[in-house]
Amino acid sequence: MRVSEINVALIGTAFMGRAHGNAWRQVAAFCRPKRTPRLKVICGRDPGRTKAAARAFGWEEAATDWREVVRRPDIGIVDVCTPGDSHAEIAIAAARAGKAVLCEKPLANTVREAERMLAAAERAGVAHMVCHNFRRIPAVCLARQIIDEGRLGEIRHFRGAYLEDWLLNPAFPLVWRLDRKRAGSGSLGDIGSHVIDLARMLAGEIREVSGLTETFIRTRPLPGSPARKGRVTVDDAAVALVRFASGAVGSIEATRFAPGRKSQCSFEINGSRGSLAFDLERLNELQVYFESDPPALRGFRTILATEPIHPHMAPWWPPGHIIGWEHSFTHMVLDLLAAVADGTVPSPSFHDGVMNQRVLDAIGRSSASRRWARVKGVA
Ligand SMILES: NC(=O)c1ccc[n+]([C@@H]2O[C@H](COP(=O)([O-])OP(=O)(O)OC[C@H]3O[C@@H](n4cnc5c(N)ncnc54)[C@H](O)[C@@H]3O)[C@@H](O)[C@H]2O)c1
Repeated sequence: MRVSEINVALIGTAFMGRAHGNAWRQVAAFCRPKRTPRLKVICGRDPGRTKAAARAFGWEEAATDWREVVRRPDIGIVDVCTPGDSHAEIAIAAARAGKAVLCEKPLANTVREAERMLAAAERAGVAHMVCHNFRRIPAVCLARQIIDEGRLGEIRHFRGAYLEDWLLNPAFPLVWRLDRKRAGSGSLGDIGSHVIDLARMLAGEIREVSGLTETFIRTRPLPGSPARKGRVTVDDAAVALVRFASGAVGSIEATRFAPGRKSQCSFEINGSRGSLAFDLERLNELQVYFESDPPALRGFRTILATEPIHPHMAPWWPPGHIIGWEHSFTHMVLDLLAAVADGTVPSPSFHDGVMNQRVLDAIGRSSASRRWARVKGVA
């Protein structure tokens, strides 16, 4: 192994296993990372599928016991791409073994677990990162720059929604995402957590929420035995009014029951001097409106965030040659590798994961009590 190389272990071989495997494979070819990742071992539960995933993405080894993998002295980074019920156990074991940890979102299934993960990572002094990858989309980074430069003035509104439709069919089976024990919550944690992360990144901490959650289809066929049905134990949709510590107000919505919306994560932000808007289904674009434009020329315009001066774009293609959703993961691992090299903690860190989990928890509590709920730790 060359000095700048670092061995990566990826736990989970399916949807996120593929997205992260692609990122680890692409990052050195395009982005000149400060450490070069070596795709050392991928770990799943099924030996055949794990070997196939290793072959497809170029992992050197395939393993089926994550406990053995995270203990290995040759591993530098553990990347957790399993369902939420195993995040805490795997991430804490990895941190205790001295590994940098990248963990999928939401960080955990409960606030308590997320706090334990943060404490373990801080105690071990390792880099820790939660995979809210939309933060690394160039147009979203540009939104942050525009806000930081004061071009929107005082932020007053954040309106965010993540809409999908893949649960519409009542015959869709009772997969792990519909089981509270495995997923923690439904639309709220699965996709609402992305909106919460964007809200926190762009408008600051959320202080209190008034939330509601609903489950439209309460039983579904069991996977593998469709004649039998089991109970859905998570929300199908979640909606919340939110008040930010800054005084801004907003709304957050998440549903997997919006026909025609495939993966529409969108937000609009209104400030005292302008507005901006983003939609994941058109992720290279940022809509902006500035009061400072000459009155006759005012109007929303579209910035195609593909110039080399736009955040994260320089390593890719000439202007206008758009990038995709998968690039956001490459940018995540690029910044994690830099943090590991520099001995720093990247963002979003497990601290962001904890704060996100506290907002999820507050929305759940508010929905149950039908009252506003405060977010722990936000004055
Ligand atoms: N960042 C994003 O945009 C995004 C998108 C989708 C999912 N996610 C998150 O990624 C995580 C995984 O979701 P997914 O869609 O990839 O799920 P998935 O069902 O497609 O894959 C889960 C994988 O974890 C493996 N696994 C489960 N338990 C394991 C164990 N004990 N040991 C080893 N492997 C184990 C399964 O075999 C499977 O390979 C979840 O936390 C989810 O919320 C994030």
